[in-house]
Amino acid sequence: MIPKRLYAGMLASVFASGLAVAAEPGGGARLSLEERLGSVMRDASATQVAIKAGKKVTLFCANCHGEGGNSNKPEIPNLAGQNPAYLLEQVLKFTDGRRRNDFMQGMIKAMSDEEKVNAVMHFSSQTVKVHASSNPALAAHGKELFFKVCQRCHGEQGRGNEKIPRIAGQQAEYLTFSLKRYRDGTGERADPQMAANTKNLSDADIDSLVAYVSGMR
Ligand code: HEC
Ligand code: HEC
Repeated sequence: MIPKRLYAGMLASVFASGLAVAAEPGGGARLSLEERLGSVMRDASATQVAIKAGKKVTLFCANCHGEGGNSNKPEIPNLAGQNPAYLLEQVLKFTDGRRRNDFMQGMIKAMSDEEKVNAVMHFSSQTVKVHASSNPALAAHGKELFFKVCQRCHGEQGRGNEKIPRIAGQQAEYLTFSLKRYRDGTGERADPQMAANTKNLSDADIDSLVAYVSGMR
């Protein structure tokens, strides 16, 4: 990974607009990020404009999250094909400290609301590239666990819904540490539903689940 200090300087120039107060369209009341995303998603032409503008914003993100949000690093999540409301929710969690990662928190602070919405629209419009599971036997056990425990929220194809993330095809190492973090309550990332649904998983269960989920299409 590229050293954090190197990024700090680059951030100021990449997201210069984030340092100024974002101008309000029409001079109306300040829209929440959720309202902004909702209004873009309801309007087909605004959607296309945001996806295109997002491409520029996300050139920088590609250093870690890969071209079009398909990460080449197993410990960094794919953002391609992720559900937009979920992505925005994570941006909000990094902003208010409910989710902690020094780099991501610093970067999001430097982005304007418009850049955040455009980045979300861009990534969610991309197609995730799934790598076949390297251990079919492990994946078969993971499949059983998935349908027993996870399917009811993440869906039988692992694609989630508005508030629930897509996990199908997610990077293996990232899945592993995310699941352990929810289970162990490390404080970097807490969620009551995920804590409840991981608390009985052993490390071996997690390895099986990851073998299955990371290869789901
Ligand atoms: C220096 C590497 C790096 C760069 C550059 C970077 N990210 Fe990240 N990002 C990460 C890491 C690492 C995580 C996982 C953090 C964790 O869970 O602790 C992450 C997580 C995320 C998540 C949460 C994903 C999920 O599945 O929950 C979002 C959303 C995100 N990044 C958006 C962005 C955007 C938008 C940009 C560009 C404006 C960006 N990132 C640039 C390293 C980076
Ligand atoms: C009761 C509903 C529910 C169940 C059951 C559930 N999840 Fe989740 N899951 C969620 C929610 C909600 C989130 C988002 C939490 C957050 O914001 O951190 C989430 C987040 C995740 C994430 C983080 C995704 C990312 O991009 O960072 C992973 C991985 C995950 N779940 C895997 C699983 C697995 C594997 C199972 C089964 C063992 C499971 N979940 C069961 C609701 C559920």
